[in-house]
Amino acid sequence: MQTKLQATPAPEARSAHRPGVVLSGVQRRFTAGRRREPVVALHGLDLAVEGEEVLGVVGPSGCGKSTLLELVAGLQEPDAGEVCVGGATADRRAACSYMPQRDLLLPWRDALGNAAIALECQGVGRREARRRAAPLFERFGLAQFERARPSELSGGMRQRVAFLRTLLPGRPVLALDEPFAALDAITRTGMQQWLADALASEPRTVVLVTHDIEEALFLADRVVVLSPRPGRVVAELDVPGERPRDRRAAVTDPELARLRELALEALG
Ligand SMILES: Nc1ncnc2c1ncn2[C@@H]1O[C@H](COP(=O)(O)OP(=O)(O)OP(=O)(O)O)[C@@H](O)[C@H]1O
Ligand SMILES: [Mg+2]
Repeated sequence: MQTKLQATPAPEARSAHRPGVVLSGVQRRFTAGRRREPVVALHGLDLAVEGEEVLGVVGPSGCGKSTLLELVAGLQEPDAGEVCVGGATADRRAACSYMPQRDLLLPWRDALGNAAIALECQGVGRREARRRAAPLFERFGLAQFERARPSELSGGMRQRVAFLRTLLPGRPVLALDEPFAALDAITRTGMQQWLADALASEPRTVVLVTHDIEEALFLADRVVVLSPRPGRVVAELDVPGERPRDRRAAVTDPELARLRELALEALG
C-alpha cells in the first residue's frame, strides 16, 4: 500500500529539514469597520511544536484555530508576538503546506489539475505536476475522477483533492484545518490511517486542527485545547504510545479514555 506523502518524491522533499514551529505571545485581532468592536481572535498564545511532532489543536468554534494555522503558514502576521517556522528568518510560506478549512478548489480546473497546482506554484511544469499527482488519486478513492470538475465532485471528494494538493509539494510543515471533517466515517478512518502511516515513514512537523478528539488522540503526539476566543492554551495532553497507533487499542486504552475526558472537561 502506498503510504508516501507524495507520489514521486521531489528533490526538495528529500532534502527537507524538519524545522518545528514556535509561537510566542501571539496576538491577532481583526478590526471590522468603525461601528464594530475589534475581534481579538488570539491573545498571549504560546505554542511550540517539535520538528517531527504532530500537534493536535482542538477548541470551540471561533476561538482562533484557523487564524492560528494561517499565522503558521505565513498568510497572516501577528499584531503582537512572534511566529517562527524553523528559525526567525525562515520563510513560513516556503516551509509550510496549508490545507484551508474550505477546499478553495478552482472551478475551471479538473481534479487532477487542482491537486497539481501546488507543484506548479513551485515551478514544476503542468504535465509533470499532473504526472506526480496522478498515483495518489487511486489511493484516495478518486480514480477515474481525475478529469472531473469540482462541481462534479461530492464534498468528501473535494476535500480529498484539497488534501492531495496540500501533500504534493512535500514541504516540511503541514498545517491542516479539519482535513477530514467532510468525509463519511469509513472514508475518514481510512484517510486517518493513511496519514498516520505516511507520517511514521516520512515525518513532518504537523499542526492538525480538528473538532474530533478521537482523531486528535489517534494522530497526534500532543493535543492542546484552546479556550473560547481569544484562544489560548488551557490544557495540554501528551498522548502515550508510538505512532502509528493501533486504532482498536485507542478505543480500549484507559489512559486514552482519561485524556478524552480531560479534553472534554477543558472544552467546557
Ligand atoms: N479575516 C477576518 N476578518 C475579521 N474577523 C475574522 C477574520 N478571520 C477570523 N475572524 C474572526 O476571528 C475569530 C476566530 O476565527 P477563526 O476562523 O480562526 O476560528 P476557528 O477556531 O477556526 O472557528 P471554527 O472552529 O468555526 O472553524 C472569529 O471571531 C472570526 O469572526
Ligand atoms: Mg476554523
